[in-house]
Amino acid sequence: MASQRITTILKAAAVASGLLLLTGCHTDMWIQPKVKPLQESDFFPDRQASRPKVANTVALGQLNTDEAYTTGLVNGKLVETIPAAAIAKFESPAKMLERGRERFDIACSPCHGRVGDGKGMIAQRGFSEKRPPASYHSDRLRNIPVGHFFDVITRGFGTMYPAVYRVPEYEDRWAIAAYIRALQLSQRAPKSLLNEDDRRRLQEAGQKPSESEAAHNE
Ligand code: HEC
Repeated sequence: MASQRITTILKAAAVASGLLLLTGCHTDMWIQPKVKPLQESDFFPDRQASRPKVANTVALGQLNTDEAYTTGLVNGKLVETIPAAAIAKFESPAKMLERGRERFDIACSPCHGRVGDGKGMIAQRGFSEKRPPASYHSDRLRNIPVGHFFDVITRGFGTMYPAVYRVPEYEDRWAIAAYIRALQLSQRAPKSLLNEDDRRRLQEAGQKPSESEAAHNE
């Protein structure tokens, strides 16, 4: 009898210590010195737990040796042409534009519109910024160095916040910049760029009033 009771007690003790071990292990992991992002710190003098990058260090994979490609600027001046490093990332210029269109339609068109006229859905449905999304079809933006588009995506512009988190890859930002140039051309192509067929159709369109005008005149 006595030995049986002892065995039971021993068994119970073993289970209890096992449980204790388990919970002990859990709370050890749970309650350990650590900080969560943006939590206050009582260790650093400025009380910020999230630390800025250490001066003069480069994070793995973030070495920037091509200023034009990674910033759109060279010595503080916007670049006039799309850097070769960006073009080299794509199979062909057509593929680059296709990618640019896809990224533009996702990241920019809700505000700037599919043709870049500044009339995206968000703009139409009460976008209440002091300044509405820009149309790309102004003389100023038609003549601006292409690096400007890369720079606006990367650092934002006026009331537009940076779009870099939605377009993190350099080559995608350049693809969008190239596509904006294509959009600009699509709205104002010089006649010399049109083929015979298009020139003839343009002339015909110029001679006849458009359908809506014709209806209006009746
Ligand atoms: C949430 C809405 C919004 C989105 C999304 C957005 N923009 Fe804008 N963008 C604006 C607004 C608003 C302005 C006008 C800012 C101002 O003039 O202060 C603007 C201005 C611009 C300009 C004109 C800068 C100038 O020199 O006048 C460019 C170029 C531009 N955006 C490019 C882009 C590109 C490229 C994307 C996508 C990667 C994008 N934007 C996404 C709202 C947006």
